[in-house]
Parts: sequence; structure tokens; C-alpha cells
Amino acid sequence: MLNYIFGLLSYDVGIDLGTANTLVHVKGKGIVIREPSVVARHKKTKQILAIGEEAKKMLGRNPGTIEVIRPLKDGVIADFDATEAMLKHYINLVHDTGHMIPRIPKPRVVVGIPSGVTEVERRAVQEAALSAGARQAYLIEEPMAAAIGAGLPIENPNGILMIDIGGGTSEIAVISLGGIVVNRSIRTAGDEMDEAIIAYLRLKYNIMIGERTAEEIKITLGNAHPTSLKDKIMVIRGRDLESGLPVSLKITSAEVREALVPTLREITDSVADLLEETPPELVGDILERGIAMAGGGSMIAGIDKLVSEQTRMPVYIVEDPMTAVVRGCARVLENPSLLKKVRVVGGLR
Ligand SMILES: Nc1ncnc2c1ncn2[C@@H]1O[C@H](COP(=O)(O)OP(=O)(O)OP(=O)(O)O)[C@@H](O)[C@H]1O
Ligand SMILES: [Mg+2]
Repeated sequence: MLNYIFGLLSYDVGIDLGTANTLVHVKGKGIVIREPSVVARHKKTKQILAIGEEAKKMLGRNPGTIEVIRPLKDGVIADFDATEAMLKHYINLVHDTGHMIPRIPKPRVVVGIPSGVTEVERRAVQEAALSAGARQAYLIEEPMAAAIGAGLPIENPNGILMIDIGGGTSEIAVISLGGIVVNRSIRTAGDEMDEAIIAYLRLKYNIMIGERTAEEIKITLGNAHPTSLKDKIMVIRGRDLESGLPVSLKITSAEVREALVPTLREITDSVADLLEETPPELVGDILERGIAMAGGGSMIAGIDKLVSEQTRMPVYIVEDPMTAVVRGCARVLENPSLLKKVRVVGGLR
């Protein structure tokens, strides 16, 4: 009974709780929140000061009394309290409609999680969602959610290969008949690309740049294949490690490609490994349909060409790759048969 009343007064909410970005989809409204997964709080009192974009702006600029943290690392919860605060904030925000009939923030939620998480990590996400106000919290593996979000026919007896390169994890999964047949979840993704750029510039030019600059370089000049980006140049600013003074430097897209080689190699090697493990019938299907890619990391110029060359399979990027997971979470909530059929883990009451 209570469940019925809550059902009328609260929303169904899909959440992509990503290492880099948190997206929230509300039934009937679409994606209403798309913010960096960053929380700023008072170091001593733990009082939350800012969440999302506002908190990200403080990164690297905060005084000693404020800590700016990313509550998720490598796709899983690194700071439980901050994650819970973030979820609570967003759940309350989407229920605060200003309508005559108030909405109660007790939604059913589906949260996308990496396929490689442990039982303990899984519970942590579920508990964070429940204590943030959800009345039911279902978890779905990210590559499955991405495939559903991209509108791929996951329930058919045909193999689908989905690669989701996020900030913290790269998820690679072969899906057939509504389930994951084989998968790899590696903790090498966008964040490691940023770190690789930082290390490359330190080694080659002896200059130090921050994480935000590294991400900017990756988004502007990042490329994975020599044919994908014409020789582009960017002027960056950093600190000379010898003199300690600020310097500017011109870097090229070819240099950024070189910096990204080892990270991208790890990802393509995992795809190749997974294909070796994939039953031959399904490999045939994938060869026919092509490998699908999603996540922010799939937006690196030419990554489709690189994966295609390494696997000798056609590759395509799904439409709007950064929202595929949250759209998939939302679709699962709208479709009771999908909610039953896909391997949704641990639907708690
Ligand atoms: N145009 C772009 N080119 C390259 N990388 C990009 C681009 N836009 C965003 N990214 C990177 O994509 C990553 C974020 O992607 P996404 O939002 O899919 O990750 P996430 O879902 O938060 O992380 P995870 O799935 O690992 O938990 C970041 O590392 C970001 O720097
Ligand atoms: Mg993701």
C-alpha cells in the first residue's frame, strides 16, 4: 500500500553514478541533471559546501579548510558519505517541482555500476541510494545499460559487443539473450589518459600541469589514429620543474597521440582478449553488426579506427555516447519485462 502511494507521488529515476559525471534521468522529463561527480566540503565539520559543477570549479583552488573530492574512484565508491550526500542532493532536487501536490523524494531508482565491482562495492552503491531516499534501488551493469540506452536489441540471441570508456573504468562486454556472456572491466579509462598526458609532458619538457589542464588537452587534441586529427596545435601553461616558474608551451596533436598510446593499448588489448574468449557464433554476429562504443572516452578522435584496426571488426560510436548509460537505466524502469529479464542485481525493497 505504502509502495503504491509512493509510486504516485515520487518519480522513477535512472542514475549513471559515474567516476567523472553523474547523470539523472526522470521519467517523463528526460535527463535533468548532468554534473561532474565532485563534492566540496568543510574539512573538519564535513559540512557540504558545493556539489557538481560548482564544486569542480574549486578543484585545485581550495583553501586548506575545504576539501574538494571526487567521491568515486575507478568506478566505485571511494567516499561513502560524499556519495550519499551527492545522491541525496540530486534525488531531492528532482522532486522539488514547486507543484501544488508535493512530490515525495522516495523514488525507484536504477543505478549503473561497473561490471567488475565486488559484492561489497555493489552493496555500498545500493546502500548509498537507499539511504539517500530511494525506496527501491536496482543496480545494472554499465555496458548492459549502455547497450539498452543505445537501443540495441539485447534480448535477441545475437552477440553485441559494447565498449564503454568512462573516466574511471573501461567496460567491455558481449551481450546476448539479455545477459552478459563474457566481459572485462578494467580500471584504465579517461582519468589514466589525463595522467598519461601529465607524465608525458613532465618527461619530455620537464613541465608540470594540473589535472584540469590535462583533461582540456585530451579533449582538444586527443586522438588515437594518425588520420583522425589534422596537425593541431595548442598553447598550454604549466610550471617549469627546474626553475619553478610558469611557462607556456606549444604542443601538437601528434604528441598527445604518442602520450596516449600505452593507455589506449591497454584498452584495445582487453578487447582483443575478450574476443578470444567469446563463443564463435557470437563473434560472427559482432563481425556483422560491428562493435559499439559509448562513454566519454569514445569521443577521442579516431578511437573507432584504432579499435577497428586492432580487432579487424567494424566499429561505431553510439549516438550521444555520454548519456547512453543513463538512458538505458531509465528504459529499464519503464519496461517491466526488461527489469525482469536483464540481469538486474539485487533489487532491494
Ligand atoms: N570530447 C572528449 N574527448 C575525449 N575524452 C572526453 C571527451 N569528453 C569527455 N571525455 C572524457 O570522458 C570521461 C568521462 O566520461 P563518462 O562521463 O562516460 O565517464 P563516467 O561514466 O563518469 O565514468 P565511469 O563510467 O568510469 O564511472 C572523462 O575522462 C572525460 O575527460
Ligand atoms: Mg560511465
